[in-house]
Amino acid sequence: MEQITISTLNNWKKSKQKIAAITAYDFSFAKLFFTQGISVMLIGDSLGMTIQGHTSTLPVTVQDIEYHTKAVRNGAPNAFLLADMPFMSYGEINQALNNASKIIQSGANMVKVEGGKWLVKTIKELSDRSILVCGHIGLTPQSIHYLSGYKVQGKNTYDKNRIIDEAFILEESGIKMLVLECIPELLGKKITQNLSIPVIGIGAGKYTDGQILVMQDILGINEGKLAKFAKNFLVDSNSIQHAIQKYIKAVQTGTYPQTIHSYI
Ligand code: KIV
Repeated sequence: MEQITISTLNNWKKSKQKIAAITAYDFSFAKLFFTQGISVMLIGDSLGMTIQGHTSTLPVTVQDIEYHTKAVRNGAPNAFLLADMPFMSYGEINQALNNASKIIQSGANMVKVEGGKWLVKTIKELSDRSILVCGHIGLTPQSIHYLSGYKVQGKNTYDKNRIIDEAFILEESGIKMLVLECIPELLGKKITQNLSIPVIGIGAGKYTDGQILVMQDILGINEGKLAKFAKNFLVDSNSIQHAIQKYIKAVQTGTYPQTIHSYI
């Protein structure tokens, strides 16, 4: 398969081809995912929980992201890789430039940052130096203490308008992709329809340009109280390969997410 680039993803948005993305943290799974047809992978700071066993993403370091990005790149040389900038690794502009360059040098195509207006200058500075940036708004796990837990965002009019404003401001600042997490479906729809960049949702309803899930949720490995949007695709499959194919098909045909996976 040819190298997936940001132009590929923009074309998919234009032609309404849905993007089925997944988190990946190592060589073997990255290879398997790409072979089954996953073109976009996120080296997410969710690795703090899924790989390292912490209760949040906060302890993850730039070195951790570099290490896992290298492994994923080795497994999926032609995939489009976005990698998280960890908590407080982009609080100051010089620090952001320094850390983003390390992550890009590890093999990522794009870095992802969580937050709204305060990131305007950082995004401009990164973009001016040709670093592709993905925004992440709605539920932002790096702000877990500030938000008092993993809760749906944008439920009242004030918060809805704030999230819409943030999406526009981030696009104007130069982000080339946006992740929306845990927001009402119609808010996800409105933002997706009004931005020209690809918008990927996780718990943001069925109208976004694509979906992303944590691989452990797709494979039913996470236990306990799961998020509403989590779906185990392995449960009715005879192999991991088959589960991944089912996930891609469900996203592309619009059978995932359904109402039970979405917030109103
Ligand atoms: O770290 C992660 O896995 C993420 C996804 C939840 C989008 O940011």
